[in-house]
Amino acid sequence: MENLIEKAKAAIDNAYAPYSKFKVAAVVKTKSGKVYTGVNVENASYGLTMCAERVAVFKAVSEGDRDIEAVVVYTDTEEPTPPCGACRQVIAEFNPEALIVMASRKKVVTAKLSELLPHAFTGRSLRS
Ligand code: THU
Repeated sequence: MENLIEKAKAAIDNAYAPYSKFKVAAVVKTKSGKVYTGVNVENASYGLTMCAERVAVFKAVSEGDRDIEAVVVYTDTEEPTPPCGACRQVIAEFNPEALIVMASRKKVVTAKLSELLPHAFTGRSLRS
């Protein structure tokens, strides 16, 4: 897991966060063993901002790689940053049991997505 955190650290300078100044980097690892980085991309029309996690997930999925195993969220802060609710929902679409690794300068906290988003809304709900 340490190498995934290093990849996120290496990507964080690419974060485009001129408004919040809060830079976030994410790394998605899939069952194929491939990794996809993402950073937050803000916009002058604030609501169009995209989180780092979703950028990384969408990169993986758009490459045909949907079996998400783990998502790392890295911020250069004291405390780790948990993924926002929207990102939790997007990750749940592909793996409600994904491992979520929240890493900061000093701490690493891990959790299953199902702990962060219990009773997730999934395609199953649409079919029942
Ligand atoms: N942000 C992320 O990239 N991921 C999260 O899970 C939390 C929030 C970004 C969005 C925005 O650019 C900045 O952090 C402040 O909210």
